[in-house]
Formats: sequence, C-alpha cells, structure tokens
Amino acid sequence: MTQTRLDRIMFRVIGVAITAFCVTLSIGGCPTGATVTPAPDDGGDVGTDGTDGTGTDGTGTDGTGTDGTTAGNSGVTGKFVGAAVCAQCHPTPHAEWSETLHAEALTTLEGIGQGSNTNCLPCHTVGFGQEGGFVDRATTDALAGVQCENCHGAGADHVDDPLNEAVRPVIDISAQVCGACHTGSHHPTFEQWETALHAQINETVTADLLEGGSFVNNCGICHSGDVFYRINIRGEAVPEDAFVGLAAEDLTPVTCAICHDPHARTNNAAAPDAGRDFQLRFRQVASPTPSNTVEDVTNPQRFNLCGQCHHDRGRTWETTSRAPHHSNQANVYAGEMAIPDPETQQPLVLSRVSVHSFAVEQCATCHLYREDFQSEEAPAISGHTFQVNTAGCATSGCHPSSDQAAAALTTLQGEVQARLDNIASRLGDPATWEYVASGGPDDDGQAELSDEIKQIRFLYYYALVDGSLGVHNPDYIRDILEKAESLLTQAGR
Ligand code: HEC
Ligand code: HEC
Ligand code: HEC
Ligand code: HEC
Ligand code: HEC
Ligand code: HEC
Ligand code: HEC
Ligand code: HEC
Repeated sequence: MTQTRLDRIMFRVIGVAITAFCVTLSIGGCPTGATVTPAPDDGGDVGTDGTDGTGTDGTGTDGTGTDGTTAGNSGVTGKFVGAAVCAQCHPTPHAEWSETLHAEALTTLEGIGQGSNTNCLPCHTVGFGQEGGFVDRATTDALAGVQCENCHGAGADHVDDPLNEAVRPVIDISAQVCGACHTGSHHPTFEQWETALHAQINETVTADLLEGGSFVNNCGICHSGDVFYRINIRGEAVPEDAFVGLAAEDLTPVTCAICHDPHARTNNAAAPDAGRDFQLRFRQVASPTPSNTVEDVTNPQRFNLCGQCHHDRGRTWETTSRAPHHSNQANVYAGEMAIPDPETQQPLVLSRVSVHSFAVEQCATCHLYREDFQSEEAPAISGHTFQVNTAGCATSGCHPSSDQAAAALTTLQGEVQARLDNIASRLGDPATWEYVASGGPDDDGQAELSDEIKQIRFLYYYALVDGSLGVHNPDYIRDILEKAESLLTQAGR
C-alpha cells in the first residue's frame, strides 16, 4: 500500500464536493461526470498534513490556534459539553476514542479545505446546526469531530447530575445510530446493511425471544444482537424473559456495533486502507488448525470475526433429530467436521484447509468487496450487503479478472449442485432416510437406520448447508461428495 491517506482522500473529495455543490446549487442540474476541482472554502489552502490551513476558521487540530487564529470554546454553553468533559469520569472510552478517525473527522475536512462547508459539518462535528452545537473552531472547538454525544445524545444534564438515571446517556446498539451518518451515495453502509439477513432475526427465533423461551441463551447468541452484546461483549447474563413484552421491531439484529467497536481502534483488520483501522471487534483473519472434536468446531475463539456466529453447532453423523445447522461456513473453510468420538473414530473425510483461506481478508475478500464513490451513477459500494462480488476475487490478486472468477464459480457450483442432486436421488424416498425434523422416520425408525445411511445424509447436508456450493473449500467439499457417493455404492443405492 503506497498510497497515503491524504492522497486517497484528495482523490475522493472531488466527487464529494461535486455532490455538495449539487445540493446547494441545484438550479441548472449537476455537472454529471465532470471533473470539477472544488474551490477551497474559507478553510484555506489544502495543507499537506491537514493542520496548517491559512484561513480564518482556526484549523489548528489541537485548538491552540497555531495558524494565527485562536480556537476557543466561548460558545459551548448549551446541552452539548464535548468529549473532554466526559473524559473526567470516563477516561477509558475517551482515551480509546481519541485515537479513532471519528475524533479526527473535522481535521479531515480541513485537510481538504472543506472545514467550514456547512453541507459537511453535520456528520463531521457534534450538533452542527442545532442549538448549542458546533459552530466553528473559534467558538466551539470542544465540539469538533464525531464524539461521544453524536452517539449517546447531548450530555449536559447527565454531567450536572451523573447519578440521575433518568437523564443518563443512552447506550444504543441499533444500526440507526451509525446510520445517521454512514448513509448516502458516498457511504451507503446503512442502506446496504439493511438489505442483508444481518438486519433481520428470523421468525422462529423472534417468536421464541418474545415468548421468553429457551432460545435466548442458545440461538440468541448468534441471531440476536442484544444477546450477543450482553453475553459476549459485556459479559452479563441474559434472563429468558428479557424480551417478553417487546415487539419484533424492538429486537436488535446483527448491527454495526456487533462487528465494530464504536470506541476504539482494535488493530484487527487484515488490510485496512492507509491510516485506517475499521475498528473490528474480532480479528478479521484466523487460521485454526482443523480439528474434528465437537468442542473445537463449536468454539468461536478459534475463528475470525465472521466465525463468531458462522460456526457449526456440533451435530455429528449419529445425530438423528436434525441436519447440521446452516452456520458451518467457518468449519468448512477450515476443512473440519465434528465426529461423535474422536478417541476411537476416524473422521469420515480427512481434513483439508481451503485454497480460499489464504484470501487476504478471508470471508471479507468475497463477501465485503468495497469500492469508492465515482459519481451519482456509480455510487460507493460499502460491501455491507455481504453478497459475494467477484470483483473481490480479482482485486485480491488470485484470479485474473472478475469475469474469469465468475465463470469458475458457475462451473464449480454447477458441479457441486449436480452431485448433491444425484446423492439425494440415490438416497430415494425421504421417508426412508431423512432426519426426524425433515419428515424422516420417527425415533424408533431412526434406530433402525444403518450407520452408512446416517453418514451419507450427514455428509450430504454438511455440504449443502454451507451454502456456497463448494466455493468455501472446493477440494474438501469434493472429498465429502466422493465419500457420500462411495458409501451409497456400498449401501447398494
Ligand atoms: C461527573 C462525572 C461524569 C461525567 C462528567 C460524565 N459521566 Fe457518564 N456516568 C457517570 C456515572 C457516575 C455513571 C453511572 C455509573 C455507571 O453506571 O457505570 C455514568 C454513566 C454513563 C453511561 C452509561 C454507562 C452504563 O454502563 O450504563 C454513559 C453511556 C455515559 N455515562 C456517557 C457519558 C458521556 C457521553 C459523557 C459526556 C457527555 C459523560 N458520561 C460524562 C459519571 C459521569
Ligand atoms: C455523526 C456522524 C457519525 C456517526 C453517528 C457515526 N459515524 Fe462512523 N464515521 C463518521 C465519519 C465522518 C467518519 C470518517 C472520519 C474521518 O475519516 O475523518 C467515520 C468513520 C468510521 C469508521 C472508519 C474507522 C477507520 O479507522 O477506518 C468506522 C468503522 C465507523 N465510522 C463506524 C461507526 C459505527 C459503528 C457507528 C455507530 C456505533 C458510527 N460510526 C457512527 C461519522 C459518523
Ligand atoms: C451524511 C453524513 C455526511 C456528510 C453530509 C458528509 N460526510 Fe464525509 N463522511 C461521512 C462518513 C460516515 C464518513 C466515513 C465513511 C467510511 O469510512 O465509509 C465520511 C468520510 C469522509 C472523508 C474521508 C474519506 C476516506 O476515505 O477516508 C472525507 C474526506 C469526507 N468525508 C469529506 C466530506 C465532505 C467534503 C463533505 C461535504 C461536502 C462531507 N464529507 C459530508 C459522513 C458524511
Ligand atoms: C460512534 C458512536 C460512539 C461514540 C463516538 C462513543 N460511543 Fe460510547 N458507546 C457506543 C455504543 C454503540 C455503545 C454500546 C456498545 C459497546 O459497549 O461497545 C457504547 C457504550 C458506551 C459505554 C458503556 C459501556 C462501557 O464501555 O463502559 C460508555 C460508558 C460510553 N459508551 C461512553 C462513551 C464516551 C465517554 C465517549 C466519548 C469519549 C463515547 N462513548 C463515544 C457508541 C459510541
Ligand atoms: C453458532 C451460531 C448459531 C446458533 C447457536 C444458531 N444459529 Fe441459526 N443460523 C446461524 C447462521 C450464521 C445462519 C445463517 C447461515 C446462512 O445464511 O446460510 C443461521 C440460519 C438459521 C435459520 C435460517 C436457515 C434455516 O435453517 O432455515 C434459521 C431458521 C435458524 N438459523 C434458526 C435457529 C434456531 C431456532 C436456533 C436455536 C435453536 C439457532 N438458529 C441457533 C447461526 C446460529
Ligand atoms: C457482520 C459484521 C459487520 C456488520 C454488521 C457491519 N460491518 Fe462494517 N465492516 C465489517 C468488516 C469485516 C469490514 C472490513 C471490510 C474490509 O476488510 O474490506 C467493515 C468495514 C466498515 C467500514 C470501513 C470501510 C469503509 O467502507 O469505509 C465502515 C465505515 C463500516 N464498516 C461501518 C459499518 C456500519 C455503519 C455498519 C452498520 C450499518 C456496519 N459497518 C455493519 C463488518 C461488519
Ligand atoms: C453476531 C453473529 C454474526 C456475525 C459476527 C456474522 N454473521 Fe453473518 N449471519 C448471521 C445471522 C444470524 C445470519 C442470518 C440467519 C438467518 O437466516 O436467519 C447471517 C447471514 C449471513 C449471510 C447471508 C446473507 C443474506 O442476506 O443472504 C452471509 C453471506 C453472512 N452472514 C456473511 C457473514 C460474514 C462475511 C461475516 C463476517 C464479516 C458475518 N456474516 C458475521 C450472524 C452473524
Ligand atoms: C472465495 C470466496 C469466498 C470466501 C473466502 C468466503 N465465501 Fe462465503 N460464499 C461464497 C460464495 C460464492 C457463496 C455462494 C453465494 C451464492 O451462490 O449466491 C457463498 C455463500 C456463503 C453463505 C451462504 C449465503 C446464503 O445466501 O445462504 C454464507 C453464510 C457465507 N458464504 C459465509 C462465509 C463466511 C463466514 C466466510 C469465511 C469463513 C466465507 N463465506 C468465505 C464465496 C466466499
């Protein structure tokens, strides 16, 4: 990565500024596709390090007015107090936050001469345009950048009376908090996230949470953002009746604050753009040694960010009630599957690490492909639909082009789908071999099934529920299919 952060920003801001001008000067339409370099606003010339603008708006980053103007806080008298005040009692989140790009959001604007562009300030400062909010460096420097109060709400009442629970700042892990700014054609992260299943909790789990059933501490850990946050992030226990009396829309799915730490740089991203961090809560890349014990395949600590939830639930070929859950992607990627008794049994299929596990950002290489804003016709791609984009296969350096990768994908998926269909048809009437929950024989009938049939259906489903039709680990999936095919022959089907 040779590009510096400022180079990249300078490249992008041309697009940003055009949009801003379109908003202000809507008469006459937008200069579509035109390369217009924005005139510097009164924030002055573009400084090389973003700190030495020569204008009148006090662009010194440290509030000391090194550029000849004095940054001050005479205007901070309203409901917003600024992060330095929160720091008095919450030193840890403050120290962490001050290292993030949120804290630098106004400096970023100043670095490109947009420090007083009123189109930009609402998302790059605290409360711009609101009573008591940011006005300029000279009067409200304490409210520069994205701060505590952008996400927690205005804090003056809380600071006056910290023990009063009625005026305590909210802790809100919903995506709307972040979506207030991470939105629009330059960074449509919220809109794209909303289209994915991460933005929903399926009906089965929702119904149980609202009824106060036993799913809370089981299914909830992966399917509910509230449960994941309270158990895995805050280390609290969640009672089964925690959601009784709420409506479906009050439940939090897999939101921004589940994958991202709102406060801190974490150094977990495998290949962040220059100067950035992405604030991922868990490491983006993990390469566990394949293991076939129930304990290991279900242990999130072995896996990467995505594998915190996209890991197997530990069913084996001896399980008769249900097929493996649809969450075994991290295990297929690692080339592993649980067996009933590793002490005495061999795995059905030898472990084999995926060729794709070497993709630079692992799951994100294919599922979170991103592209910067080019024009209103070619808005930014945030990657947060989590849908596979084969452009990521090309930019990772593994495939010569997106089209070539797409063609290879179609061929592989065609092969795997055809072999799965063939296995199902050789198994024959589902009433003779399926799991109880999928319309197979009842518990007594299950006891009659041969080990071979149980192994074949397990292998079949293990490959199917992964959902990638072979892509996550092509050779391992081929080995699984081959084993199922040879067991079918052995069973005379
Ligand atoms: C004078 C000390 C003081 C100041 C200043 C202060 N707080 Fe607090 N804050 C507290 C106390 C005390 C609590 C309650 C203690 C607890 O529950 O951890 C609290 C609780 C909170 C909580 C809820 C924490 C939880 O776990 O439920 C948040 C969020 C919060 N403060 C944010 C802020 C923000 C944002 C600011 C600045 C606008 C701020 N605080 C300024 C003392 C302060
Ligand atoms: C008030 C607007 C605003 C809100 C609210 C907001 N952000 Fe941001 N966020 C920004 C801006 C502006 C930047 C870019 C800062 C810069 O580069 O100078 C940014 C940058 C980021 C980055 C990139 C950090 C990096 O190192 O690459 C992440 C990740 C992020 N925000 C996550 C979140 C999450 C998660 C939430 C909600 C909990 C959130 N943001 C809420 C405005 C906001
Ligand atoms: C709707 C809220 C919003 C508005 C309005 C807004 N920004 Fe931002 N800006 C953001 C967010 C959110 C990010 C972080 C985007 C990300 O990392 O995906 C950001 C990031 C940036 C960055 C850093 C880009 C990078 O790749 O690191 C620059 C530069 C920037 N904005 C300039 C501007 C300018 C100039 C304007 C006004 C013309 C503006 N922004 C208006 C929300 C906003
Ligand atoms: C980008 C949005 C964002 C910003 C900026 C932010 N917070 Fe938070 N904060 C959150 C979210 C979301 C949570 C709940 C998730 C979590 O605990 O990580 C939270 C949790 C907290 C908590 C309770 C959990 C804990 O860690 O003790 C406190 C206290 C807190 N924030 C204080 C602050 C203070 C003080 C600042 C400024 C220095 C700040 N926050 C800046 C979004 C933000
Ligand atoms: C280890 C994390 C995890 C646990 C625990 C978990 N799930 Fe899931 N579940 C997932 C993931 C990840 C997917 C989505 C995979 C995909 O989209 O292919 C999923 C998919 C689903 C689906 C949609 C696919 C289908 O099977 O039709 C349903 C319904 C579901 N889960 C219900 C449940 C229920 C009910 C429980 C508890 C009894 C539960 N899950 C426990 C992670 C988990
Ligand atoms: C399921 C996990 C997950 C969720 C949910 C999620 N993100 Fe991300 N986000 C990621 C990962 C992983 C990356 C790093 C992508 C990469 O490596 O290219 C990322 C990157 C980012 C970035 C930096 C890259 C960029 O586009 O500028 C921002 C900003 C961001 N996310 C904001 C958000 C916001 C806002 C939300 C909620 C609307 C959100 N994320 C929800 C996993 C998630
Ligand atoms: C907190 C748990 C959690 C984490 C972390 C997580 N996911 Fe998911 N994921 C889920 C659940 C739950 C579903 C949907 C289950 C259902 O169908 O009800 C899902 C669904 C998906 C889907 C299907 C999306 C669709 O809209 O069709 C993809 C693809 C996916 N996740 C990829 C990822 C990737 C890549 C990461 C890491 C960047 C990740 N997930 C991290 C829980 C998680
Ligand atoms: C080499 C590219 C690649 C990598 C790396 C990758 N995936 Fe996939 N994934 C795919 C493809 C292709 C599909 C099939 C999507 C389709 O056909 O629409 C898929 C499907 C999925 C699905 C099922 C989606 C659905 O609609 O039900 C989930 C969930 C998923 N991947 C999660 C992950 C996780 C978690 C990781 C990391 C452990 C990962 N993927 C790594 C390419 C990849």
